[in-house]
Amino acid sequence: LEFLILNGPNLNRLGRRQPEVYGRTTLADIEAMCRAAHESETLGLRFFQSNHEGALVDAIHAAQDDGIDGIILNAGAYTHTSIALMDAIASVEIPTIELHLSNVHARESFRHVSYISKVCVGVICGFGAHGYVLAIDALRQKLESDG
Ligand code: DQA
Repeated sequence: LEFLILNGPNLNRLGRRQPEVYGRTTLADIEAMCRAAHESETLGLRFFQSNHEGALVDAIHAAQDDGIDGIILNAGAYTHTSIALMDAIASVEIPTIELHLSNVHARESFRHVSYISKVCVGVICGFGAHGYVLAIDALRQKLESDG
């Protein structure tokens, strides 16, 4: 299996960005945590981050061409705005988990709306950096049980 861990706008600032909300763990730390917890001969992990909506759309399309088996997507604020990202996920046949570090439902009401949930197999939010490790495990178990 090969998973793409896709991160959207402002997540390159993790560690320095509102640490009271998002913690002090950087994106590089998250990548290292995920690789340590999950990377094996049977599970490969690719990481990509962009602040640009279209680059995220391109990455989702490329994932299909590259034979990626699953996507974990923290779309950042585009979660709450982007029909284009919803359509991109719907345009590929790759099970996708929506992920947020923070519990978006405990925050401002504009963060309670997600355009991408309806095209994702599940949502993980509120567990900080560990959510990425949980999401990889959840996606792997889902793919294995679905055959
Ligand atoms: C976020 C939550 C979003 O509302 C916010 O815009 C982000 C990060 C999270 O990981 O908690 O950029 O996706």
